[in-house]
Amino acid sequence: MRSIAAKLWVMMVVLMVLVLGTLAVIQTKAIEVNYYRSEVRHMVGEAQELAHLLTSGAAPEVIAAKVAYLSQVFRANILIIDAAGRVCDPCGIRGDWAVYPGMLLSGSDAQAVLSGKTISRQGQHPLFEGVRFLWVGTPVMENGQTTGGIFMFAPLEPINARVRGLATALMGALLAGAALAGVLSFFTARKFSRRLVAMDGVARAMADGNYAARILPKGDDEVARLGASLNTLAQELQQRIAAVEQMDQARRGFVTAVSHELRTPLSIIQGYTEAILDGMATEAEKEQYLKAIYEESERLHRLTDELLDLRRMEAGAVSVRREEIRLEDVAAGAAARFNTRAADAGIDFQVNAAPSPPVAGDAHRLEQVVVNLLENAFRFTPAGGKVMLAVRPGTAGVELSVTDSGAGIAAADLPYIWDKFYRTDRARTRYSGGSGLGLAIVREIVELHGGRVEVTSVPGEGSVFTVTLPAYEDKIQNTEVRSQNSECRR
Ligand SMILES: Nc1ncnc2c1ncn2[C@@H]1O[C@H](COP(=O)(O)OP(=O)(O)O)[C@@H](O)[C@H]1O
Ligand SMILES: [Mg+2]
Repeated sequence: MRSIAAKLWVMMVVLMVLVLGTLAVIQTKAIEVNYYRSEVRHMVGEAQELAHLLTSGAAPEVIAAKVAYLSQVFRANILIIDAAGRVCDPCGIRGDWAVYPGMLLSGSDAQAVLSGKTISRQGQHPLFEGVRFLWVGTPVMENGQTTGGIFMFAPLEPINARVRGLATALMGALLAGAALAGVLSFFTARKFSRRLVAMDGVARAMADGNYAARILPKGDDEVARLGASLNTLAQELQQRIAAVEQMDQARRGFVTAVSHELRTPLSIIQGYTEAILDGMATEAEKEQYLKAIYEESERLHRLTDELLDLRRMEAGAVSVRREEIRLEDVAAGAAARFNTRAADAGIDFQVNAAPSPPVAGDAHRLEQVVVNLLENAFRFTPAGGKVMLAVRPGTAGVELSVTDSGAGIAAADLPYIWDKFYRTDRARTRYSGGSGLGLAIVREIVELHGGRVEVTSVPGEGSVFTVTLPAYEDKIQNTEVRSQNSECRR
């Protein structure tokens, strides 16, 4: 028997049979006892009434009628005896029992009744052999004296038959109840097990890798709660597995991108090295090739450095200091590095630093942010253009913005410029020095500081990159913040 519904049903049925069976036995016994008891009480009452009739001087016809009535109702033999124990006449002797008027009744029953006691007994009586009786005896009293007695002998068989009838009716009712309960419990067991079967289905689906299966919530008992827990588990697993898959995909994409980034400089290095090795190049050409090789290896060096830095930040291995610093100072430090470059490139470079509240941060890391943004601004702005670096108090802290009048970024590219290795124009920008990691590093550092970085751009007119950092608060003074693991973030 493998189905839980069947087990449950059998258990319920066995339990029901046990309970109802016990009930039936107890009830039958109780009916029997009560029935005999009430019969005895009834007979004693009638006998006493007859005794009363006898002593109150009623007419013999009245007494005879009463005797006839009683013997009919109880199908009983009624004997009236006098004080000596002799059977009187008229005394309703019925049937062909060996009793006749004048016969002397002896034995313990007669003695007990004549000494003033009322008796009731059940079983065989020496007077009526072969038949079982229920009989009662009661004394006839006159002025405190026992002047006789009355016996009523009722055959047990009709009483037994009535008790049996009652017991049979009871058994019938119990059996019908049991059958009905059996049917009901069959449906209950099936309904109960159906929910478990549904849960089994969901668990199996999960084992097969399908985490979308759910149980329909029904009720709020333990089974329903188990179902809800299973649903939560499935949902949790679904989310986690999706995250793991996304992470895996990101990692694979990353490896592909890195390989791709390495291939071009490596093949350039290889090409120039071959040209030098095959001995055909002039001294001047050799020097030119070596310079190119040096530049490429330097680019590779920078790329690996930046990559390592970014990976460490993403993996939570980098902590930034949270010192009270001024973004005006950070901006001035970074700007100083670009003055010559601005003059060389013929770009109008302005720095606008309004007095602002301090921020909590790592000066070195924040300078890296400003340098990366300025680097981009200068790279994408042609001669005659304008680059502006500004610091000012903002609504959510302190704002630092880098504005340029350069190429701008197409709306379609905007969401992706923060991704590693993403460049809007690969061929052109790679050779103007970008690794494609600059903005990814910018965003990572800014978020480590609890700030955010945004960009607005109009293609052909220029771009504005704005970094917002929360103002310094005493309570976070000099604490360090570890970078969070952001592997699965886009
Ligand atoms: N100021 C800017 N003007 C125009 N395009 C920009 C600007 N800053 C960034 N971009 C675009 O975003 C891309 C990613 O920038 P970044 O992550 O710094 O990489 P890289 O500078 O190495 O190319 C750039 O290649 C460029 O296409
Ligand atoms: Mg850059």
